[in-house]
Amino acid sequence: MRHDALAVPRYLSQAYWWAYVHPNAVRLFERQWLVNLILWGNFARLRDAALDALGPRLDGRTLQVACVYGDLTQRLRERLAPGGSVDVVDVLRVQLANLAHKLRGDPRVGLLHGDSAALDLPDASYDRALLFFLLHEQPAEVRRRTVAEALRVVKPGGRLVIVDYHRPHRLNPLYGPMALVLRLLEPFALDLWRHQLSAWLPQDGGALRKRTLFGGLYQLVTLTVPQGDTP
Ligand SMILES: C[S@@+](CC[C@H](N)C(=O)[O-])C[C@H]1O[C@@H](n2cnc3c(N)ncnc32)[C@H](O)[C@@H]1O
Repeated sequence: MRHDALAVPRYLSQAYWWAYVHPNAVRLFERQWLVNLILWGNFARLRDAALDALGPRLDGRTLQVACVYGDLTQRLRERLAPGGSVDVVDVLRVQLANLAHKLRGDPRVGLLHGDSAALDLPDASYDRALLFFLLHEQPAEVRRRTVAEALRVVKPGGRLVIVDYHRPHRLNPLYGPMALVLRLLEPFALDLWRHQLSAWLPQDGGALRKRTLFGGLYQLVTLTVPQGDTP
């Protein structure tokens, strides 16, 4: 992507420097067992649910919006059909460098430096896109633009898959601990407890299917991009 001077969004440098921006953050968090612990043992389940929702064989072009610690992209790559490719866009070069290291050079995977809220990518240029635990980290207006941009670059009839936090049932024993952790560490995350994801979708956001996992603590939403005006 073009922006050599792309600014690090303020919410990342202020609220998430310890998780993504600082080089030591990458050294600390790039451990699958740790990411799994943060997700209460659900990393593989959520990863595989996201990949299954994208489709069993990924032909054409897939977009992953934002890098993820652990082996999500490596597993996604295993599902590429012959001739298929995946692009991963992230606003932090340190995260792209870390992913490049994990992938060990693969011509089917493109690493793009860019902002999810203003993708420098043509309309309808991907067959599907994935947002994996990105939206809860973003302020509402950035979140709205990220979803709109992901929908813009997916072809009509293609899929956008979103996996993220969700308000668990009150009787879920993790309700209190998670509310506390999110309140202390993730300043925008509780938005996803208070509102449905549809709150940040454009009006013509397409057909939506939602499923919750692990007592409602996580959600998987699949959106099918509308085909446009049919007579
Ligand atoms: C996908 S989210 C969280 C994923 C998950 N918690 C994990 O284990 O990695 C983290 C990534 O989002 C990226 N990110 C945050 N805001 C972004 C934006 N506006 N555009 C592109 N990437 C962004 C960060 O740089 C980071 O690499």
